[in-house]
Amino acid sequence: MKEKIEDLRSIAIKELKEINNLTDLDNFRVKYLGKKGELTKILRGMGSLSQEERPLVGKIVNELRGELEDNIKNIKSNLENKKKNEKLKNEKIDITLPGEKINLGHRHPLMQTIEELENVFLNMGFSVVEGPEVETVENNFDALNSPENHPSRDMTDTFYITDDILLRTHTSPVQIRTMKENKPPLKIISAGRTFRFDDVDDTHSPMFHQLEGLVIDKNITMANLKHTIDMFIKELFGEGMKTRFRPHYFPFTEPSAEVDVSCLNCMGKGCKSCNDTGWDMELLGCGMVHPEVLRNCGINPDEYSGFAFGLGVDRIAMVKYNIDNIRLLFENDMRFLNQF
Ligand code: PHE
Repeated sequence: MKEKIEDLRSIAIKELKEINNLTDLDNFRVKYLGKKGELTKILRGMGSLSQEERPLVGKIVNELRGELEDNIKNIKSNLENKKKNEKLKNEKIDITLPGEKINLGHRHPLMQTIEELENVFLNMGFSVVEGPEVETVENNFDALNSPENHPSRDMTDTFYITDDILLRTHTSPVQIRTMKENKPPLKIISAGRTFRFDDVDDTHSPMFHQLEGLVIDKNITMANLKHTIDMFIKELFGEGMKTRFRPHYFPFTEPSAEVDVSCLNCMGKGCKSCNDTGWDMELLGCGMVHPEVLRNCGINPDEYSGFAFGLGVDRIAMVKYNIDNIRLLFENDMRFLNQF
């Protein structure tokens, strides 16, 4: 019996030496130490042994069990360490390699201008609203009191999508949307893209940007309009800037005006770029909202009045950053854009 156990031991030890993975190790454990394993078989068969032999054999079997258990434990921890080290080795990052450079972008000069304009008006208590670039003829013209024969309604001036849908020709339809959806008092601005059939030259593009303003409340007068525009221009270009209101015509405001500001180049003294007038012309259009427009939006003109203004954002950006060609704003040439 003793010899049989000794043989079993040397076979087991030999097998153990060849084990190089955890699955084989577990199979080994089941084969020798499991419920139906080799050592258990020997212990079960001890009934046939003599009284004297039994404790001896029991002792040897238990010693062998202890020995195998210790070995399994050691091999298990070795295999686990090996696995861990291999994983660490494979996942090693070479921190000395130079990283990939990510170029940090910035906002387009036009967007920077819009943001700056919005901030000036936000500080004056206006809120910013948005409107769609694809508009109804109703919002873009009819509700704005624009007569059927107005040239801007012509196919050659406006991008129509269908007979009643077009690319908005100005941001003024946002006035209509705002007045139809909300009750006065209203004090909003809205900036965005606008579209007209213009041939491209240094100052014209078929796609350009406007910023619209609208104030509706009780007792709003032309004085409020003039003060607001004046404050805005001074805030944007500096205290020394003067504004000049010239009478004009817009179908949706009455009275209407165009606003000129001091020539930025000479600050009003007169130079070549302002034709010696001292004025930078037509920076914005404005006026008192026409009673018909208020009525179209369900606002009683006997109770409420208000003013509106619209300005060309591209124009302001060009004056501000001294850009002499509007094409530069839309070409997305990084050599140009990186300067801002
Ligand atoms: N919508 C006018 C334009 O595009 C500008 C404007 C806006 C005029 C608001 C008066 C009031 O020319």
